[in-house]
Amino acid sequence: MKKEDENKRKKNKLKISVVGPRGYTGSETIKILSLHPYVDEIQLLSLSEDDKQKEEQTQPEITKSIPSFRKYLQKVSKIEKFSEEKLEGSSAIFFCTEQNKAHKIVSRIIESGISSFVIDLSPDFRFKDVGQYKKVYGFDHAIPSAIQKTVYGLTELYREKIKESEIVANPGCYPTATLLGIAPLIKYAKKQGLNIEWIIVDAKSGVTGAGRKALPHLTLAYLSENIKVYAWSEHRHVPEMQEKLKELFDISPPLNFTAQLIPAKRGILETIWIKLDEKPETDKIFEEYQNFSQKNFFFDFWGEELPDIYSVTGTNFIRVGIKCKDNIIMVVSVLDNLIKGASGQAVQNLNIKFGYDEKVGLELPPIFT
Ligand SMILES: NC(=O)c1ccc[n+]([C@@H]2O[C@H](COP(=O)([O-])OP(=O)(O)OC[C@H]3O[C@@H](n4cnc5c(N)ncnc54)[C@H](OP(=O)(O)O)[C@@H]3O)[C@@H](O)[C@H]2O)c1
Repeated sequence: MKKEDENKRKKNKLKISVVGPRGYTGSETIKILSLHPYVDEIQLLSLSEDDKQKEEQTQPEITKSIPSFRKYLQKVSKIEKFSEEKLEGSSAIFFCTEQNKAHKIVSRIIESGISSFVIDLSPDFRFKDVGQYKKVYGFDHAIPSAIQKTVYGLTELYREKIKESEIVANPGCYPTATLLGIAPLIKYAKKQGLNIEWIIVDAKSGVTGAGRKALPHLTLAYLSENIKVYAWSEHRHVPEMQEKLKELFDISPPLNFTAQLIPAKRGILETIWIKLDEKPETDKIFEEYQNFSQKNFFFDFWGEELPDIYSVTGTNFIRVGIKCKDNIIMVVSVLDNLIKGASGQAVQNLNIKFGYDEKVGLELPPIFT
């Protein structure tokens, strides 16, 4: 970090650039950052070519994406067309872009000497294994050397490394719910020398998980009073979970997955089934979860009570409940895909990197209807 940027940080005057602001995660990021007390300026940069009016706007066009936020946008610039030079002087850059965009831009900005902290909400830096980008997402990575400087932004499990990182790869929404939901259970199993025979993740998501694009199966007529299974174990988030289970816990159990769309705007509910090779001591599993919950503000353990999407909507919390029967454990993990599953966790990572309290800007009053 340059001296000038370091001084700004100390004076709590961060300038943040948001690339890809009009999508769901872009809008949610702007919303959170615009109420963040240490953020002074939010620059919005669009990669889209389609809107000739962008440069001529007299007020931020972002009000079209988030009209309900009109009077909270004092720190927010109008949307400008993206160029690398405009990133100069940013304390941090948030990429809220579709896949296969951020890695190319990061490769160019590193070349031109811009040293801003990067938080990428897209999948472009999530894998450590560089071959996975081609295999899973179909592109060759533009800057494999930067992958080694990248830390996976699953805050509760990578906090210390995030402090030292230059690039944070914000996790996928499903992997956040799965990996955090089962982390205490895996820690317990490892301590006791128990093996995990298999994991089944049955995931349900609101439609914002698919982004803003208009697709026939995301229309009101199709999805209201409907539920659709849209992916199973070939889902792109499965290799992400597998790599991180190996990296974090040195385990590679069979992992089966289904993803279903539900007629809701936001939220993920995962029912995760795990089979251990022996019957566990359930009180010790509960203890492990309680300890994890105490150490991590945004991880809220409910014991045997099973949380629902309603309990997390509009918040940065992940809430988890469990049931144990013989050697099978069922974990229910819920979060808001746009907050803990994306923009909220990204801001949590920003706070950690810049030495702020992790909760700053994230104690969001929940939506209650
Ligand atoms: N949605 C989730 O729950 C979620 C969770 C975790 C991670 N992610 C990841 O985050 C990234 C962004 O996801 P997203 O859900 O924010 O995608 P999205 O809503 O589909 O937006 C993607 C991009 O579309 C562009 N766009 C073009 N024309 C637009 C228009 N008329 N209105 C709105 N946007 C327009 C926006 O860029 P401009 O503003 O430059 O035009 C935006 O960056 C993806 O890589 C995704 O995998 C998403």
